[in-house]
Amino acid sequence: MDHSLPVIAPSILAADFSSLKSEILQCVDGGATWIHCDVMDGNFVPNITFGADVIASIADISDDLFIDVHLMVEEPEHLLESIADAGADLITVHQETCRHLHRTLQQIRSLGCMCGVALNPATPGDAIRPVTYMMDMAVVMSVNPGYGGQSFIPESCRKIEEIVKIRSEEKADFLIQIDGGIGPKSIGKAVKAGAEVLVAGTAIFQAESITESIQSLRKLAETANQS
Ligand code: DX5
Ligand code: ZN
Repeated sequence: MDHSLPVIAPSILAADFSSLKSEILQCVDGGATWIHCDVMDGNFVPNITFGADVIASIADISDDLFIDVHLMVEEPEHLLESIADAGADLITVHQETCRHLHRTLQQIRSLGCMCGVALNPATPGDAIRPVTYMMDMAVVMSVNPGYGGQSFIPESCRKIEEIVKIRSEEKADFLIQIDGGIGPKSIGKAVKAGAEVLVAGTAIFQAESITESIQSLRKLAETANQS
């Protein structure tokens, strides 16, 4: 799939789950092509969300949606097959949860999905260096994972810049996603630092209009990208 950058990826964590389909269709109306699905296990992170069945229902809403699954779970290797079968296009695992990260990324690839590696705020950017050649996306967490609606950690921009540098040193080819606290105030800074995929939950689903909030975030991201 060709992604025109920057991408706004609505995180359904902040959606009203009793009208999930309608809210996702409003995202599509606003021009969203990605949907970010946060899977939490109550162990790696203190919160529990949903799993493969909900992802399958979301994937069924439209064939055109790119399903971006963010696994915040211990031992993610046990979930990969069911998440891939549910219709994930890209599966991100946390570096902190993988004892054998290389093997886990191979496993995701062998299931026919793209793969991403997420880094907690306290994990150094360099942790991805040995596997950059097999990654489709690096995810810089700009909050501690577990909840929506937290404040953007401004130092995350330094890590984005570090990862941009690592990508060019390693001659690798992957997208850089930022996840957490993205809204009108932080989106420009993240894009200027080098983020290409901007996850936003609260800023989209708690706004007065889902469609308008996506459009205005995209405008801010495009402006920052050009300046
Ligand atoms: C946090 C999740 C994020 C979250 C972002 O652990 O990974 O995707 O939904 O939500 P906001 O945009 O509200 O910070
Ligand atoms: Zn996420």
